[in-house]
This record gives sequence, structure tokens and C-alpha cells, in this order.
Amino acid sequence: MSGMSAELREFVLTDAEFERLRTLVHHSTGIALSDAKRELVYGRLAKRLRALGLETFADYCDLVEEGHPEEIEALTNAITTNLTSFFREDHHFRQLAEQVLPEVRQKRAAGRRLRIWSAGCSTGEEPYSIAMTLREAFTGLESWNARILATDIDSAVLAKGARGEYSADAIGKMAAARRERWFERTEGGAFRASSDLKSLISFKQLNLLHDWPMRGPFDVIFCRNVVIYFDKPTQRKLFDRMADLQEPGAWLFIGHSENLFNVSQRYRLVGRTAYRRV
Ligand SMILES: C[S@@+](CC[C@H](N)C(=O)[O-])C[C@H]1O[C@@H](n2cnc3c(N)ncnc32)[C@H](O)[C@@H]1O
Repeated sequence: MSGMSAELREFVLTDAEFERLRTLVHHSTGIALSDAKRELVYGRLAKRLRALGLETFADYCDLVEEGHPEEIEALTNAITTNLTSFFREDHHFRQLAEQVLPEVRQKRAAGRRLRIWSAGCSTGEEPYSIAMTLREAFTGLESWNARILATDIDSAVLAKGARGEYSADAIGKMAAARRERWFERTEGGAFRASSDLKSLISFKQLNLLHDWPMRGPFDVIFCRNVVIYFDKPTQRKLFDRMADLQEPGAWLFIGHSENLFNVSQRYRLVGRTAYRRV
């Protein structure tokens, strides 16, 4: 056992229990936990054991394997990595403003319908960044039927996204003018997204491994820093299903350390982690 020695630990996480947890997590989320995640799993789930008054990880595994939906949700929320930020990988937002939106405006001029999906949206910084880009770069947006679908498996991060309140730290390096334009100060000193942003976004819980209720077509999909935790077969199925919801030429943005090499031939690389549906 690495890190803290066994006698200082409140619980013991045996190899067999770690394997059981790995299988449970993979089955319910698609996330493939490597050996390197053992400490993280211990740290995040020890809290759960304490809260439930359980003495061993084996008891915890039994509980989850019995299929209690609320515990599967708690396990999922504990295991997901939700790191995100406003305008993360900002080249995607520049490309959205400068190339994608002008194209979509032309292509969809007749029906004036625009659909963007933020798949694995975490606490909302990504869909709010998309919303700001739309409001700033797409003149006449009011006369369009424009929606951003923001989905995540983790109910806790979605609730935060829907609330749309962020600390000064989370607002981070966003230009002051942008912050003033799109956020209002709360009494507690946080920043609340304006109704102009919120009205564009629908936050919905969705496990990417399950059936999807949407029919598309999506002009743009952001699926960034999500599949990095999935194995290749899961990634293949996922991008195939995404391609089914897009028309030729539609856009897909993925995370900075991800690529579709040997994963999907239905998208063509056209820029830095930017793809178009073939
Ligand atoms: C690191 S965050 C990425 C957030 C944002 N896309 C970004 O790039 O900043 C990954 C998100 O994927 C979500 N996720 C993991 N497995 C998922 C699944 N099976 N279905 C839906 N979302 C999932 C996690 O809950 C987490 O919020």
C-alpha cells in the first residue's frame, strides 16, 4: 500500500475491493480507473463509508452491488473529475466566434435553428462560455431558435451549473468587461450568470453510456476532457453515436490531450482538437 501506512488508516482498501470498485465504476460511468487512482478512490470513498457508518470497503461494495440508485449516484459523484474553467482552451471559443457561427448563420438561415451540445459540462463554465460567445458574436441571436444543451452524469455539478453562481476564483482571469456584462454580484460577493446567458442553456443529467433522448442535429458538440477517462471501445461507440446526431460539416471540439486517431473515421481533423463531421 503506497502513501500512508496501513496502521494509520481508518479503513483498509484491499486489492480485491479496489477491483470490485473499479468494475462498478466502469460499469456505471465508463470511467476506467487506473492503479494510479487508488489513493484518490480511497480518499473520496472513505468519506462515504464514514457517512454511512460502514467499517469496510467490502460492505460498501455490497451496498452498491445491491443496486441502490442513490448510492450509485453518490459513488459516481465521488469518482468523477470535474476540473473545468471559463474559456478553457480558448482557441475553441475563438474558432466558434470567427468561423463556426458565421458558417452556421448561412447554412441555417432558412430555419434559424442553432443547437450546441456541451457533453460533460461539469459545473457549467463550458456552456456559459459558449453562451457568452454566442451573445457576443452572433448579432440578431434573439430572432433565432438557439439552444445550448449542457449534460453531465454528476448531479452535484449540474445543480451548481444550473444555479450559475461562481466565486471570484472561478471567474478567474475573465476580462473585467466581460464579467461586468454577463454576471451580477450576489450579496455574498459571488458572481451570478445573467438571465441572458441562463436562458440559452438547458442543464440535464445524462450518462453518456445510456440512451440519449435528443434527436439533434447538433451544429457543434463540445466533448472536452471527458473521454480521456474512458477506454477505447467506449470512446469509439460514443463518437459514433455523436456523429449520428450531426450533419456533414458539423463541428466537434475535444480536449487538449485527446484525439480521434484509431477512434473514429467519421470526423476529419481541421484544427487544434477541432473536427468536422465527414
Ligand atoms: C474534467 S470534466 C470536463 C469539463 C469540461 N468539458 C471541460 O473541458 O472543462 C469531465 C466531466 O465528465 C463527466 N463525465 C464522466 N463520465 C461521464 C459519463 N459517463 N456521462 C456523462 N458525463 C460524464 C464528469 O462528471 C465531469 O464533470
